[in-house]
Amino acid sequence: MIIAVILLPFFIHAQKSTIISPGLMWPDNEGNHINAHGGALLRHEGTYYWFGESRLRKGENDRTNYGVGCYSSDDLVSWKNEGLALRVINDTSSLLQPGCVIERPKVLYNSKTGKFVMWFHHELKGQGYKAAMTGVAISDRIEGPYKYIRSLRPNAGTWPVNFTDEQKRAIPGESSLKSWSEEWKQAVRDGLFVRRDFEGGQMARDMTLYTDRDGKAYHIHSAEENMTLHFSELTEDYLDFTGRYYRVLPGESNEAPALFFAKGRYFMFTSGTTGWKPNPGRLAVADRITGEWKALGNPCRGTEEENSITFGSQSTYVLPLNPEKGIFIYMGDRWVPEDLYNSRHIWLPVEWENGLPVLRWKKEWDLKEYR
Ligand code: DGJ
Repeated sequence: MIIAVILLPFFIHAQKSTIISPGLMWPDNEGNHINAHGGALLRHEGTYYWFGESRLRKGENDRTNYGVGCYSSDDLVSWKNEGLALRVINDTSSLLQPGCVIERPKVLYNSKTGKFVMWFHHELKGQGYKAAMTGVAISDRIEGPYKYIRSLRPNAGTWPVNFTDEQKRAIPGESSLKSWSEEWKQAVRDGLFVRRDFEGGQMARDMTLYTDRDGKAYHIHSAEENMTLHFSELTEDYLDFTGRYYRVLPGESNEAPALFFAKGRYFMFTSGTTGWKPNPGRLAVADRITGEWKALGNPCRGTEEENSITFGSQSTYVLPLNPEKGIFIYMGDRWVPEDLYNSRHIWLPVEWENGLPVLRWKKEWDLKEYR
């Protein structure tokens, strides 16, 4: 009996699963599918925290019960539900009122202020995806509750760092060019929408956050009607924009940015822009975070069908598990648009081929092999 009691903890430990099964239901400690979509992980004091969109479940009556979900884990497989880190505000005078859209939330820890800062793509109630804003919230505790500060369109009244004087001047008649005509595409590449949004601030839809090795943090977002990514520098406290921003891959329609630094270079997975439907994955590389970024094509190494839908996923984050050894985990979403809660998590180990990251489908894989 005594021996059994002594051995029990070891037995329980030995039983802990290290298996990841992309695309299956992923139950949390309460047996419910993990409700954290379009999310990212943040490691703090040895524990992983997973933040993501907490979506209303089908048939859910409480319209105030959504926002940003938070889960914690020591092993990346079993996750404890920490509840809503940010919840919509039940007040019609708030921009964050029920009915608004909260997508792709990310959290950073600011060591100077000791605060956790959350940014998220924010669309206003009843306006579809027109507002194209980003929201910011703050907390003393990683799990929240986060206090909503405000939402905005970034970088009003400032030009991108990599914008020429010529690009600052409007081309006569540019606002009436026919969408998708060659002239229009050229005008977009040359900053048509940057000029249009100069005063009111640049659009911010799909987003991620990234802290560079020098401690500078960037809010990286689909701007310019989703045609161009903007890498927007955040202030030292991470709560605002400095006004320094860079256009990346102009006119190339990238969404779902997920960045990582490996083997001396910056890599970025993105997707194209096809709503909730998956499309061919994309990879880009840069020597410096602010560019120049170079598109390298599809990182998927599967069948033609699998590559054309990124194994049925859209990128959201890359976890640096053991970056010195080149060990990273790709995280993506397999969206179920009619029941977003039910969207599946696609985690795959990043593999390397000729110095470049590639993805291969795995029905299941063992984290133990990637330490
Ligand atoms: C694609 C984006 O990546 C998602 O986050 C979401 O905004 C959908 N579009 C909405 O159609």
